[in-house]
Amino acid sequence: RLLIIDFGSQVTQLIARRLRELNVYCEIHPYQNVDETFLKTFSPKAVIFSGGPDSVVREGSPRPPKAVYDLGVPILGICYGQQVMMQDLGGTVEAGESHTAEFGRAYVTPADQRIDLLAGWFLEEREQVWMSHGDHVSKLAPGFEVYGTSPGAPFAITADLSRNFFAVQFHPEVHHTPNGATLYENFVRLAGFTGDWTMSAYRDEMVKSIREQVGDAKVICALSGGVDSSVAAALIHEAIGENLTCVFVDHGLLRLNEAEEVVGMFRDHMNLSVIHAQEQELFLGELEGVSDPETKRKIIGRLFIDVFQKYADQIEGAEFLAQGTLYPDVIESVSFSGGPSVTIKSHHNVGGLPEKMGLKLVEPLRELFKDEVRALGRDLGLPASFIGRHPFPGPGLAIRCPGEITREKLEILRKADAVYIDQIRKHDLYDEIWQAFAAILPMRTVGVMGDGRTYDYALALRAVTSVDGMTADYYPFSHEFLGETSTRIINEVKGVNRVFYDCTSKPPGTIELE
Ligand code: XMP
Repeated sequence: RLLIIDFGSQVTQLIARRLRELNVYCEIHPYQNVDETFLKTFSPKAVIFSGGPDSVVREGSPRPPKAVYDLGVPILGICYGQQVMMQDLGGTVEAGESHTAEFGRAYVTPADQRIDLLAGWFLEEREQVWMSHGDHVSKLAPGFEVYGTSPGAPFAITADLSRNFFAVQFHPEVHHTPNGATLYENFVRLAGFTGDWTMSAYRDEMVKSIREQVGDAKVICALSGGVDSSVAAALIHEAIGENLTCVFVDHGLLRLNEAEEVVGMFRDHMNLSVIHAQEQELFLGELEGVSDPETKRKIIGRLFIDVFQKYADQIEGAEFLAQGTLYPDVIESVSFSGGPSVTIKSHHNVGGLPEKMGLKLVEPLRELFKDEVRALGRDLGLPASFIGRHPFPGPGLAIRCPGEITREKLEILRKADAVYIDQIRKHDLYDEIWQAFAAILPMRTVGVMGDGRTYDYALALRAVTSVDGMTADYYPFSHEFLGETSTRIINEVKGVNRVFYDCTSKPPGTIELE
């Protein structure tokens, strides 16, 4: 296995992700936890030093234990990791000056001698990389040579081939170093990894570590029917079986047949213990007459916590709360919390729950990205149709019903949404679209059907492409598709006589209407 020593870079998890893509097992450990004894027990086959925000020139800045250089295994240092390695082994690092600092895109050109680490690189004579450094190496450590340079980093790629120590100034793990994955691939091959690690192996590791964390204690999980909480629940169930109880809160704002499908699948197909909390009356009652978007969100958030707590109190001895937090959630909350960003929407989540209830957290997906969670879900036997589902927000249909929510509107919206999604599936577009849904607008318009006048609701259809929901573009349906869908909805759903297609991207729009 491979050891990543984390010096605090924002993108350390991306290194792990690149390695998992190469089917190599790795673990990230913060530098503070890595000492000589740890190294002996861990016995890595290769080591990577991550980047980090500190400056090696500063007295007391983070270091690996010196013993790491005597393990006799390949080491790759990245950015701060390069500078640490150079300084530890006798080179010199200089503090940043404006003409040597580099942030963003840079181009590295090769030295005459090509090395195995760079197989597949420099096919076009120069290689785009992503830099983010103030300090730079100014004198190499003995034994090291330069194999690539950039305008701000004369020592962009360096290596001591006799020891298989490699040190690069840029970040090969990020998307903006397009050939970065190849560099990692070359590194792990030369370290002797065969790439036989799989998602099933990860699953086994996770199961083991959940058992270690939780022991015989009971765990509760708020199941939303979304991919993240579903995969987390399935994984924890595999680890601790009946000691996991899921609570599915039905707030009356779910899609057509959704509650039955989710509860049915987890109870019957996956054999989990699921409490179906039927709290429609409570939620819809409190939302009556409320039309302000933030007020709606706050009411739903508060009731959700109350309800969840009520059911959790019935589960004796619950000590842990399971959450399907993913790595991007972790990073966003770390890097943006307390920052200057404004609240666009109060997102509904159960983040405040554990403290309020005195529960500890189990978050087995914290290291994974969405597509990896999907792969894990498939491995756990969740049906493909379930894994590929579009995201659905916690406040549900409430935020797809701008203005006041009524039962009549919800009824119409559920039916129309089902027809719309059916159309998308029939045209084989579901997987191409990141998220699609209908919303019911707070207005009625006049129409004519048969020979009569109608005065009914208008619907907005939304469909977007996106990678992470942070930005999005509207999906370019054909006119035929839009026409056919509009006709079907108006014919099949009583109470609708007009259909709009929302062609706003994000920004300036948001994906949901509220
Ligand atoms: P917006 O509307 O902010 O949505 O562009 C971005 C993504 O987040 C989902 N969303 C939510 N998810 N709780 C959630 O779990 C929420 O309160 C919430 N609000 C929006 C939305 O469906 C889209 O995928």
